Amino acid sequence: MHAHDPSAQSLIDLGKRYWLPVYRPRDVVLDHGKGSRVWDTEGREYIDLGAGIAVNALGHQDPDLLEALTTQAGKLWHSSNVFYTEPPLRLAEELVQASGFAERVFLCNSGTEANEAAIKLVRKWATAQGREAAKRVIVTFRGSFHGRTLAAVTATAQPKYQEGYEPLPGGFRYLDFNDAAQLEAAFAQGDVAAVMLEPVQGEGGVLPAAPGFLKRVRELCDQHDALLVLDEIQCGMGRTGTLFAHVQDDVQPDIVTLAKALGCGFPIGAMLAGPKVAQTMQFGAHGTTFGGNPLAASVARVALRKLSSPELLSNVTRQSQALREGLLHINASLDLFDEVRGRGLMLGAVLKDAHKGKAGSMLDFAAAHGLLVLQAGPDVLRFVPPLNLGDDDLAEGLSRLEAALRAYLAG
Ligand SMILES: Cc1ncc(COP(=O)(O)O)c(C=O)c1O
Repeated sequence: MHAHDPSAQSLIDLGKRYWLPVYRPRDVVLDHGKGSRVWDTEGREYIDLGAGIAVNALGHQDPDLLEALTTQAGKLWHSSNVFYTEPPLRLAEELVQASGFAERVFLCNSGTEANEAAIKLVRKWATAQGREAAKRVIVTFRGSFHGRTLAAVTATAQPKYQEGYEPLPGGFRYLDFNDAAQLEAAFAQGDVAAVMLEPVQGEGGVLPAAPGFLKRVRELCDQHDALLVLDEIQCGMGRTGTLFAHVQDDVQPDIVTLAKALGCGFPIGAMLAGPKVAQTMQFGAHGTTFGGNPLAASVARVALRKLSSPELLSNVTRQSQALREGLLHINASLDLFDEVRGRGLMLGAVLKDAHKGKAGSMLDFAAAHGLLVLQAGPDVLRFVPPLNLGDDDLAEGLSRLEAALRAYLAG
């Protein structure tokens, strides 16, 4: 028990009473963390293989992030974009240099805002090209997730996130992910300004782009003078074993969006703009009060440096294999998964027909066994742990997972 904590239940009751009931959190109140472990207000310890939805890429209380944050906190918290501060200036330069394609950066506060900026940039670019409004269509893919603001949720080609929010903004067209023939047909309509996609779909079930698909998308975009927008909000920042996921697909995007692990837990998002679009938005075209906040940018600079390091990236590759093997090993005796898919430390265990819809229930059992994992829809268990995950934490996490899944089967 923590010395001064009120009971967890009385805290949870506050959430049930006062929060807009858009979430259904597990009945756990987390209190503090260290590395890949977190503790709740009652002192129970958990292995964290969810990392705040692929955010805490350096685990909890990374000393370098903490130092960056507290040093900046002792200097200046906020200035707005009416005045310069050093951290976002340096961060923009470092992101451009790390990207290998971008010329300019727009900093914001979240993933959905980065995508909102990308959507607006596509539209401005198409407008500047003299395309009439009906010819500024953005193609996205079923199963995608791009965020909750109105344009981003319209880009998100999943009806469950859109229902009831009509009228939605126009100018989006949805296709099946990994279906190049459908994309060719869509381009044949002559109205596509951009294709926007996640190199590895996250919320939609941890589904990577098929080998060669991104290259084909790039070719078609080039043929039809359209932009390629990659949402690397979940799969970027080292999660798949390279700083940017698309490097593995060997394509050059026009726009990339980042958030989540860019701040390792401090809210920040970024839109990176390549040469075709770097000059498209001029003074007054877009803006944000908080974007490029010096606290967030100071943390992100350190996150970027550490998440780019060869040691960290090789840990991703090594632990990816260990996690995958561990999941397959569990499956060999429990027979719950059809497959384990994904890239790097973004893995999904796809539930067999007999267990479809049960991912949420498995998560409850996991939490009861001291393990935090996620779902990606009702049929996929999702593992997006800290990228500096150590051997002991992974082994312990897998052993707790096995115990949890045995309890699920017994229950
Ligand atoms: C691929 C992707 N894009 C966009 C978002 C939205 O990010 P945020 O929740 O920070 O607005 C998410 C969040 O899960 C995501 O996974």
